Amino acid sequence: MRSFSSWSTLAVGLLAALASAAPSSPYKSSMSKRQASGDHLVFCHFMMGIVPNRQSSADYDSDMQRAKAAGIDAFALNIGKDAYAEQQLAYAYESAEKNDMKVFISFDFNWFSPSSDASTVGGMIKNFGGKKSQLIVDGKVFVSSFAGDGLNVEQLRQAAGVDIYFAPNFHPEQTADPSAIDGALNWIAWDSDGNNRAPKPGANVTVSQGDATYTKWLGQKGYIAPVSPWFFTHFGAEVSYPKNWVFPGDLLWYNRWNEILQLQPRFIEIITWNDYGESHYVGPLSSKHTDDGNSKWANDMPHNGWLDMAKPYIQAFKAGENSPAKYITEDQLVYWYRPTLKSLNCDNTDTTGQRPDGVDTMEDAVFVVALLTEDGKVTAVSGKNSKTFDAPAGASAWKVDMGVGPQSFSLERGGQTVMSETSLREVKDQCPCGLYIYNAYVGTVPAGEPDALDKDGLTALTSGLKVSTCAATPSLTGAPPRPTANTSAPIATSAPAPETTNSPPPSPATSASPSSDVSSIPTGTVRIGTSAPATSASATSGPATPTIASTTVAQQPESGGGGCTATVTESSQVAPTNCLQSGQVWKGPNAGPDCCDGASPCCKH
Ligand SMILES: *[C@@H]1O[C@H](CO)[C@@H](O)[C@H](O)[C@H]1NC(C)=O
Ligand SMILES: *[C@@H]1O[C@H](CO)[C@@H](O)[C@H](O)[C@H]1NC(C)=O
Repeated sequence: MRSFSSWSTLAVGLLAALASAAPSSPYKSSMSKRQASGDHLVFCHFMMGIVPNRQSSADYDSDMQRAKAAGIDAFALNIGKDAYAEQQLAYAYESAEKNDMKVFISFDFNWFSPSSDASTVGGMIKNFGGKKSQLIVDGKVFVSSFAGDGLNVEQLRQAAGVDIYFAPNFHPEQTADPSAIDGALNWIAWDSDGNNRAPKPGANVTVSQGDATYTKWLGQKGYIAPVSPWFFTHFGAEVSYPKNWVFPGDLLWYNRWNEILQLQPRFIEIITWNDYGESHYVGPLSSKHTDDGNSKWANDMPHNGWLDMAKPYIQAFKAGENSPAKYITEDQLVYWYRPTLKSLNCDNTDTTGQRPDGVDTMEDAVFVVALLTEDGKVTAVSGKNSKTFDAPAGASAWKVDMGVGPQSFSLERGGQTVMSETSLREVKDQCPCGLYIYNAYVGTVPAGEPDALDKDGLTALTSGLKVSTCAATPSLTGAPPRPTANTSAPIATSAPAPETTNSPPPSPATSASPSSDVSSIPTGTVRIGTSAPATSASATSGPATPTIASTTVAQQPESGGGGCTATVTESSQVAPTNCLQSGQVWKGPNAGPDCCDGASPCCKH
C-alpha cells in the first residue's frame, strides 16, 4: 500500500478550479493580522506507509529528536488502512512522548472512504487522542487528512467522543461550505498547470494563488499552508503505478519560506519528512524505511541541508517576523543541484524511456542559499563555471550555471577564506544507473554528517534497471573532504580547484547580481542588521574576522598512499570505483576521479 504517493490521484478538478480562482494577494488578509505570534505551529507530513519495518518506538526516536531540534512542533502521521497502521501509530505516539514532541493523525482518504469510514476514523481518534503526545490546539484533539471531501464530519466527531480540532485537506471547490471543519490543509505546494503536472505555457497555477483561495474560503478558520522543497517522481514499468514528472523546484524552498514569512498563516506543514518517492523529503536518508522503488533516485541524495536552511525561517515564523536574519547565529551555505544536465540523453537506458514531464520548468543551475551572520563573498564553482557573489548578512539565494565536474563552495571575508567545501557528488555526463535523475543533491558548508540509505531502503534499487553498472549500495559514505585549518589562506589558493576549470579565479569585479528568482523577494527578508550597502565584502566588513570554521582542501596528498592503482573491470567497477568505466584505471586518492563511492576497500586512508 502506498499511501505516500496518493497526491498523484488528486482530482483534476481541484487544480482546474484553482487556475480560475482570482489571484488576489494572500498577503494582506485579515487573518494574518489576527494571529498572535505564539499561535504559530509547524507541522511536517510523515508517511507511515513506508515504515512498516519499524520494530519499536525507539525506531522513531531519531526522527522525533531531529524534527524537534529544527523547530517542528508536530508530525502529521499519514496513515492508510494498512494492517500495521495502529501498531506503528502506537510506536510513534510513544516515541513522541519520550522525546517531548507532538503528533497527530492525518487520515489518507485515498484509502479510507469518505462515505463509509467516518466511524472507523472517529474510533481511531478516540484510541489515540488521549495520549500525552497528541497535539492539542485550542483545547481540542488536532486531526487532519489527505483528501476526504464528502466525509460526514458530524458522524466522525460523535465517534471520536472528544472535542476535536478538525483541519482536513478538504478542497474549497468540493466542499463549498467549510462550517463543519475548524481549519484545512492545502496540499498544493508546487506551481502546476492546474492538471497535476508542471506549468505549461498559458497554464500556471502558483502556490500563492492556492493560499489566496484557501484563506478566502476559510475566513477566520485555521489555514495550514504547504511548504515543500522539490518534486520529482520516476516510477517506471518495474512497478504497477508508473509516474514520471517534476514540478518546478529550483529555488522553491527558499522562495516559499520567504512567502510564508509574509503570509503568516496560523499553521504550516512541511511536505514532507520522508516521501522519498516524490523527492520532497527533508528528513534523512537514514530514517528507517522500506523501498518501493524510490531508492533509484534517493540513493546518494541527502536533503539534510534543506532542514538546516528551514531552521531560522521556522524561528522567524513562530515569532511572527518577516526575516530569518536574527535567527542566523552561525555562517552556513546550503547548496543543491541535480546530478546531470537536462541535455543528457538517457532514453535507451532509463526505466521509463523518457525525460520526466516538466523538466523545461527547471534550470540547469546550482543553487546556493547563504545564511550569514555578516556580509561575505560567496563563491560557487560548478565544473568550469565559477561565480562570486556579495552576500549580505541574513539569508540570500544565488545560482551559477551547472557544469559537469566537481562542485565547490566557499565563503570569504576581507580576502580571507572563512570556510569551503567540495561536494561529495559531482555533476556527471553519464546517466546515474542509466536513469533520468531529477532529484536534488543537497549539501552544506561546513559539511554535515554523512547520510545514507540502509539495507531496507535499497531493496528495489536494481529492480528493472537496464544497466548492470549500478549496485544497491550507498556510494557517498566516505568522509567529506578533510578540514585543514588555515587562518591565512586566501580563497584563490585554498579553494579546491577542479581540474577542468578554465575560468580565472573570481575577483570582486566579477561579482554577480542575485538571481532573478531572488530579486522578487522583498528586500527586507534577506537583509537586516547592517546599514552598509551590499557591495564588496572588503568594502563593508572592515578588517577580516578570522572566524575559521573549516577551510577545506579536498583530497590532500598523503604520503605512503601508493599502491592504489587498479584497473576497473565490468564486474569490479561497482566498488570501490563506480565513477569509472570498465577498462579505466583508478590511480589512487590523489588522481581524479577518486574513489568517489567511498566504499571499502578503498585506498584512501
Ligand atoms: C508561473 O507564474 C509564476 C508567478 O508569476 C512565475 O514566477 C513562474 O515562473 C511561472 N512558471 C512558469 C513555468 O511559467
Ligand atoms: C596557509 O596559507 C598560507 C597562505 O596561503 C600558506 O602560505 C601556508 O602554507 C598555508 N598553510 C597550510 C598548513 O596549508
